[in-house]
Amino acid sequence: MHLNEKVIVITGGGQGLGRAMALFLAEKGATPVLIDMNSQALEETVRLCHEKGVQARAYIANIADEAAVEEVFGNIVRDLGAIHGLINNAGITRDAMFIKAKDGEVSKRMSLEQWQQVINVNLTGVFLCGREAATKMIEGGNEGVIINISSISRAGNMGQSNYSAAKAGVVALTTTWGKELARYGIRTGAIAPGFIATEMVMSMKPEALDKMAASIPAKRLGEPSEIASAVAFILENDYFTGRVIEVDGGLRL
Ligand code: CAA
Repeated sequence: MHLNEKVIVITGGGQGLGRAMALFLAEKGATPVLIDMNSQALEETVRLCHEKGVQARAYIANIADEAAVEEVFGNIVRDLGAIHGLINNAGITRDAMFIKAKDGEVSKRMSLEQWQQVINVNLTGVFLCGREAATKMIEGGNEGVIINISSISRAGNMGQSNYSAAKAGVVALTTTWGKELARYGIRTGAIAPGFIATEMVMSMKPEALDKMAASIPAKRLGEPSEIASAVAFILENDYFTGRVIEVDGGLRL
């Protein structure tokens, strides 16, 4: 896909990786369409895109809410005519040990709320936005690409039962949709970032972050732009579908 003037929807586009993706794709002439819950962050990303001479659009919606997702994708097609790409990037963490115990006494457990909040946004949100984007691409008769942002944690990471399960799930969705949607000219892809210098990673418990960072073969955290360039690769390479790219500086959990 040539990115010039293509409408690329980015969930969680207000900050972090989503903002970096918007700016990277704007440089290539795409029109970034940002969905986020944080209006201030959205405004700032739109402003930064304008600095690059690109008209980005922003929409506020909760991607875990089916009716809200249907409405916002309807509004995007009404306003911009078509959707050529979706990057399912929005995600949250609610880290907690599955069980914490000492001397046979269980002191803490991951709560159902911590589990459900992450599954709702990071897995159900991906399902809902993916389904809506594919519907609009097919109804509009245009080719498209859906990219799901997974994580190195999909392999299993201490303190992240909820997040790891969701991030493994989105890779399974990527493969399934790659198989199901090829007949409609829709490709898919996933990216599994390692530890990238975003607010999400920087807000980790310092001891946990230091331990993790010390074992990265590349000896540094990744840069958001390094994930954005993987996004551009998947969008632009017409033979890529159904697979996951790991961008983690060589780290294996
Ligand atoms: N490796 C080795 N040991 C670990 C560990 C790890 N990654 N995480 C926790 N532990 C150990 C702790 O050292 C501790 O061991 P001791 O009892 O022997 O001291 C034990 O497990 C319990 O851990 P805590 O004392 O930290 O437990 P807590 O209840 O205070 O906090 C927690 C739990 C919030 C999960 C905290 O351990 C934590 O923040 N861990 C890091 C989780 C993580 O990696 N998050 C990634 C966020 S960034 C992201 O998600 C982006 C992405 O895509 C990668």
